[in-house]
Amino acid sequence: MQDPLLSNKIAAAVLTALLLIFGLPQLTKALMGGGHHAGGGELHLAYGGELELDTGGGAAEAAPEVDLGTLLANASASGGERRAALCKSCHTFDKGGANGTGPNLWGVVGAQVANHAGFNYTSALKDAGGVWSYDRLDKYLENSQAYIPGTAMVQRFAKPEQRADLLAFLQTLSDSPVPFPAPTPAAAEEDAELDTAEEALENEPVEGAGDADPETEEGAH
Ligand code: HEC
Repeated sequence: MQDPLLSNKIAAAVLTALLLIFGLPQLTKALMGGGHHAGGGELHLAYGGELELDTGGGAAEAAPEVDLGTLLANASASGGERRAALCKSCHTFDKGGANGTGPNLWGVVGAQVANHAGFNYTSALKDAGGVWSYDRLDKYLENSQAYIPGTAMVQRFAKPEQRADLLAFLQTLSDSPVPFPAPTPAAAEEDAELDTAEEALENEPVEGAGDADPETEEGAH
């Protein structure tokens, strides 16, 4: 780095971001008042929409978001299958199963959206187009009507871990299961960034020290 102030500027930016990330949940908690002890999930709901900040898990319990790849890597298909009992009032999961209120869901991961034979989809879902990726299924399950306004399905799963379990179960409904997306190494990267920022603070340029580094010092000796 040429400009010795640059590292300080970066450090200041990182610290400001941290203040926002870690300060905001406290503020939110205070504003929402006591009583029911709000967990991380609810806090996340309260401000996660506007702030696209990702602390990459550095903040222990308060970490607002874990990437889908990481969630899926830790998901339980059998847990998802139990949870999918909810879906069975409208969907069948077996290969060649009948359509009900909703379409049969065998092989839905990686399938064309709204394309299961013999099911009469809403135009809202048909217009969504494309393919059901894990990411899109995740959004649909999180809040189907927010993700695809006008879809006939009304489902909301606020908890990312529960959705990941469901997706892990949906993965099993295939002769050639679609692999999960890889976990993003964001957490590691951001930890490294933090370390550099901390170092930058510790190694504040001392007046008069100039750009003396161990090597030139030795040479001057
Ligand atoms: C009350 C009925 C109902 C329940 C319960 C329900 N769904 Fe649905 N689902 C539907 C309907 C209806 C559609 C078609 C929506 C449309 O055409 O807009 C649908 C569509 C879908 C699709 C898109 C399928 C495709 O072919 O594009 C997926 C995926 C899905 N549901 C998953 C689930 C899962 C997983 C659950 C359980 C957690 C669930 N659904 C619970 C009624 C339901």
